[in-house]
Amino acid sequence: MEEYALPLNKPLYGELEVPGDKSISHRAVIFASLAEGTSQISHFLDGEDCMRTVNAFQAMGVSISKNKTTLIVEGTGPSNLKEPSIPLYFGNSGTTTRLMIGLLASLPIFTTVYGDESLSTRPMDRVVNPLKLMKAEINGRANGKLLPLAIDGKQLHGFTYELPVKSAQVKSALLLAGLFANGPTTIIENTPTRNHTENMLKALGATITTRDGNITLSPLEQPLEPLNLYVPGDISSAAFFMVACAIIPKSSLLIRNVGLNETRTGIIDILERMGARIQTKNERVVHGEKIGDVSISQAPLSSTIIEGTIIPRLIDEIPIIALLATQAEGTTIIRNAEELKVKETDRIKAIVDVLQTLGAKIEGTDDGLIIHGRTNLTGGKVKSFGDHRIAMMSVIASLISNEKVFIDDTSSVSISYPSFFSDLNHIITT
Ligand code: S3P
Repeated sequence: MEEYALPLNKPLYGELEVPGDKSISHRAVIFASLAEGTSQISHFLDGEDCMRTVNAFQAMGVSISKNKTTLIVEGTGPSNLKEPSIPLYFGNSGTTTRLMIGLLASLPIFTTVYGDESLSTRPMDRVVNPLKLMKAEINGRANGKLLPLAIDGKQLHGFTYELPVKSAQVKSALLLAGLFANGPTTIIENTPTRNHTENMLKALGATITTRDGNITLSPLEQPLEPLNLYVPGDISSAAFFMVACAIIPKSSLLIRNVGLNETRTGIIDILERMGARIQTKNERVVHGEKIGDVSISQAPLSSTIIEGTIIPRLIDEIPIIALLATQAEGTTIIRNAEELKVKETDRIKAIVDVLQTLGAKIEGTDDGLIIHGRTNLTGGKVKSFGDHRIAMMSVIASLISNEKVFIDDTSSVSISYPSFFSDLNHIITT
């Protein structure tokens, strides 16, 4: 058990820049490896998940090196990617897995892929089934629903597919497969999800159009251009400090260079709606992605209802939003978030488990949460379920708890935010 008895209700104060965006970092490595020539990716997130994507391309013969937080990728082009001689290990990373399955299914190589215990329980049929409609050859446990999978790559058929799940990973997997297919691929998305894949493909010269939820990609006719990219700060990491600031009296923070892509800013909308003092400044577009500085300070909070199209815009922030809701007057209801059940752990159960242990009035539902605020949190012994976002939410909860919080294991923070504790120490006033 690790102990978190950080100074109770000490304000957070100052300025910081959080590490690079996880979703954009994965995509940057993939496209830089597929491009022909040298790419430079600065402010790259070197968390464990993104390193799984790096390691996969290294196993396929791509030379990738790191200079501080700049990644240098010597792209080989798709036809020079080598068949890996050993199975590819994707650890805890759902994004690596889904995106790579799409790509590997469309390349003329044979691969087997596997992951850790958590990843081995997560559904892969959401990408395997549509890829089979493109004529992919993929076999695996539980009829291809679960890892490990064996992928016998070949040229696929372009197709039109309406996404049955609100998932950017599925959309991106199919677009990656479509890059090398024998005809155009159209993905129909009824609820917008993060669009970093589409943005990057456009910036690198692919023929892709997005209109009224229809995304149409033509197969590549010439190699992708190498990238020279700055990865914006990850709003999903910044969210932990935004919320901490919103709930600890006298706090005030400026978080610089945060990614503000509208498919990701649901957390800012919710903080505003609940009464936090939050402002975005210095907004600009860098390499196709909106970026800016976020200033936030504490103010009285009230409850809200979170449902519908905002859900994919804040899906990864729901653990920390649940903590936020414990500090708001009234009942906050979160609906239409059934995807939480298939994240790194069943996050509905995990959030309820942690926050109930700490004295919050919270219930799980089939597709979300009901949280009655405002409650003073007590201390207690909580489990992080090996989930990075549950671990970080628990640490932030300890900042406002009346007694010590013990967390079984916080090593998972290195999956998405290796410098989480040092950044926190930097902004805690002493
Ligand atoms: C991601 C998409 C989301 C998100 C995950 C990263 C991505 O997953 O939860 O952390 O980079 O495409 P789903 O596509 O499963 O919703």
